Amino acid sequence: MTKNTSDISDASLAAAGEARIEWADGQMPVLRSIRERFAADRPFDGLAVGACLHVTAETANLMRALVAGGATVSLCAANPYSTQDDVAAALVANHGVSVRAQHGESVDRYAEHLSNVLDAGPNITLDDGADLVTVLHARNPSAAEALLGGTEETTTGLLSLRAMEAAGELKCPIVAVNESRTERAFNDRYGTGQSALDGILRATNILLAGRTVVVLGYGWTGKGIALRAAGLGGTVIVCEVDPMRALEARFEVVPALQAAAKGDLFITVTGSVGVLGAEHFAQMKDGALLANAGHFDVEIDIGELSASAALTSEVRPLVKQYDVDGKRLNLIAGGRVVNLAAAEGHPAAVMDMSFATQALSAARLAADNRLTVGVHAVPADVDDQVAQLKLRSMNVEIDSLNDDQRAYRHSWRPDVDEA
Ligand code: ADE
Repeated sequence: MTKNTSDISDASLAAAGEARIEWADGQMPVLRSIRERFAADRPFDGLAVGACLHVTAETANLMRALVAGGATVSLCAANPYSTQDDVAAALVANHGVSVRAQHGESVDRYAEHLSNVLDAGPNITLDDGADLVTVLHARNPSAAEALLGGTEETTTGLLSLRAMEAAGELKCPIVAVNESRTERAFNDRYGTGQSALDGILRATNILLAGRTVVVLGYGWTGKGIALRAAGLGGTVIVCEVDPMRALEARFEVVPALQAAAKGDLFITVTGSVGVLGAEHFAQMKDGALLANAGHFDVEIDIGELSASAALTSEVRPLVKQYDVDGKRLNLIAGGRVVNLAAAEGHPAAVMDMSFATQALSAARLAADNRLTVGVHAVPADVDDQVAQLKLRSMNVEIDSLNDDQRAYRHSWRPDVDEA
C-alpha cells in the first residue's frame, strides 16, 4: 500500500539502507525501549502522523517506533540535501512508511512532497523547521485546527511558530522538543558541535590545527563547535550579538567585520539572516572557507557571493570556489546546513534522546488530554524519563533525595521540619 504512495530515488538501495538503520538502532537504546513499549501500548492506533524530518537512519528508527505504536506514517525531507536515499528505500520496503524524499530534489519537488504528506491527513505533525505545520496553516486552517498537535525540533522552527502564536495565527498545540533539557545539552552542543566539523572536514580534508576558526553565533551549537574546533588545534574567534553569551565565551570575541580579516574558516550558526555578506567577503583572506551550520541557507549571502565573483568552479564535490577580486573564497555545501549536507547529521547516540523525546511528546499529543493551542515546553516528566532511560542503558545508577532533603527543598524555613 505504502509503496505506490512513495517517491524515492532508488528502491534497489533498500538493503544498504536497512544495514544503516540497524547500525543506528544499536546506538539508540532509549528509542528502542520506547518502540517496544509502543508495540505493547499502541498509543497511535488509528492515527496518521505526518513527518517533515531529515531522512536519515536515526529518523528511520523514530518512524519505526511510531509504526510500532500503531501510526500510519508519511515522511518527507526537512532539507533537500540531507536525505539518505538508501534509508528512504528501506523505510518503504521494510517498515511500512510512505516516504517522499529524494536527495538533491528541486525546491518545487520538495514543496510537492510536503503537500503529499499533508494530503495524507495527519492528526499529528513532526517538524524540523516548521515547514509542514506552517504550510498546513496556510493551506487549510480548519485542518490545522483539527490537529491533535505537532512537535518541533529546531530553534528556527520555533521562532516561526512563536511568531504565529504572537500574531494569534497558531491553531494547534506545539511541543517545543528543541527546548527540552536533554536536547539542549546534548543535541546542539555535542551533536552539531561534532557533526558540523565532521561535515567540513569530510568536504575539505583540511587540517584544523593552526587555523583560525571564526564561529558566528555562540548559542549551544556555537559553543559546541567552538569547543571542538579548539580541541582540534584551531584558534577560535567568536562573534555574537547577545551580550550575555559574548561574556560567556572563553575565546576572543570581536565584531564579524574584524573577524573577517582574521579567519581561515568561518562557521555561521546564528539562526539569523545575512550574517556574512559583501563587506565581510571584501575583508577575507585568499582561500577562506565558509560554512553554515544553521538550519536555513540564509546566513551566508550566497546571492551576493555569486554576483560579485568573476569566476566560480567546483573544486571538490562539496566545495564551490568563488573568485572575488582575485581572492578565492570557498563555500562548503552551498551554505546549507553543513552537518547534514556534508556529513550524516548528529550521531545516533545523540538523536536517541531527541527522538525519544519526539516519540513521547507525540504520544502525549495522541492521549486524549488535549493540550491547549500554543507552544508548550516538553513535559518535565518526559525529559526526566528520557534522561533516566539513557542512564539505565549505560548502566549508570544515581542517588535520589531522601525525605529530609526533599522536605528541605520545599520548605522556605530550612530550620523547620515540614513533616
Ligand atoms: N538533525 C541533526 N542530525 C540529525 C540526524 N542524524 N537525523 C535526523 N535529524 C537530524
